[in-house]
Amino acid sequence: MRDIRQLYLDFFAQRGHKIYDSMPLVPDDASLLFTNAGMVQFKDIFTGKIPIPTPPKATSSQLCIRAGGKHNDLENVGYTARHHTLFEMLGNFSFGNYFKKDAIAYAWEFVTQVLGFDKSLLYVTIHESDDESFSLWCEHISPERIKRMGDKDNFWQMGDTGPCGPCSEIYVDQGAEFFHSSEDYFGGEGDRFLEIWNLVFMQYEQKDGIRTPLPKPSIDTGMGLERVVALLEKKLNNFDTSLFAPLMKSIENLTNKRYYHEDELLKMTDSNVGELRHTSASFRVIADHARSVAFLLAQGVNFDREGRGYVLRRILRRAVRHGYLLG
Ligand code: SER
Repeated sequence: MRDIRQLYLDFFAQRGHKIYDSMPLVPDDASLLFTNAGMVQFKDIFTGKIPIPTPPKATSSQLCIRAGGKHNDLENVGYTARHHTLFEMLGNFSFGNYFKKDAIAYAWEFVTQVLGFDKSLLYVTIHESDDESFSLWCEHISPERIKRMGDKDNFWQMGDTGPCGPCSEIYVDQGAEFFHSSEDYFGGEGDRFLEIWNLVFMQYEQKDGIRTPLPKPSIDTGMGLERVVALLEKKLNNFDTSLFAPLMKSIENLTNKRYYHEDELLKMTDSNVGELRHTSASFRVIADHARSVAFLLAQGVNFDREGRGYVLRRILRRAVRHGYLLG
């Protein structure tokens, strides 16, 4: 896991990007509850409020919280394969320097040559209006693997205000073995095709519902570290990876129950598999929420009746409830 993070930062450092530390989870920005993406620390550079740094390219591995606010995954955690309240986002950023062509070429090179994903398993989405990205992707991937989607899927905004733009997402096909829903086609709602990387072509700033062009078109990308680790370790659920194994072991020791991985659950025919599924979901909730609560407390957020402290309280309460469910 450390290796993947380092491979990513090194790859972009070798291509002229400065490595930035992860910024705090609580941003100095009243429009956001928590840092919810790698681009948050660069927001004022994108909008032109502060000058473009030298070099005009950055890379980071950013700790993010997506609970409360516009990007809120709290209720999904435990019950889906991929949601977290706290996760790490790998990103590369261009401040008026390179744009779509290089962002796409870098992403393709990293995914196929450094991570070694099989090209025949890769697909991409683009914004329905984005003919330029379509042509650029056609240099790497066949046109039938490129899907155009609307604003809901392929337009990214930090929040109701802030920099935003059309985006292009890279998907990995996890194969038919474990995925049998009628939604498991590329572009469907099923889990078989997993999004790993979002390339945002930052072009606008949104304020009071109005979009104005940014001073310079820029790049903001985000790749979910936990997802990539799961794919590379051939796990069907992020919580089944080596990244979460120590937490699962601790919860097992505390509860005297066993955590079952998703592939084990899928193969089971026992009558109590439903109960084991609930148990595993509770393990995942506790593992996820323990990380969020620990990091938020360590960074100075405290329990409260409103705002950030209230979200923290809700996360802890949900973990405690699942602790009771585990006995
Ligand atoms: N900001 C975009 C996202 O969060 C890309 O990093 O998906």
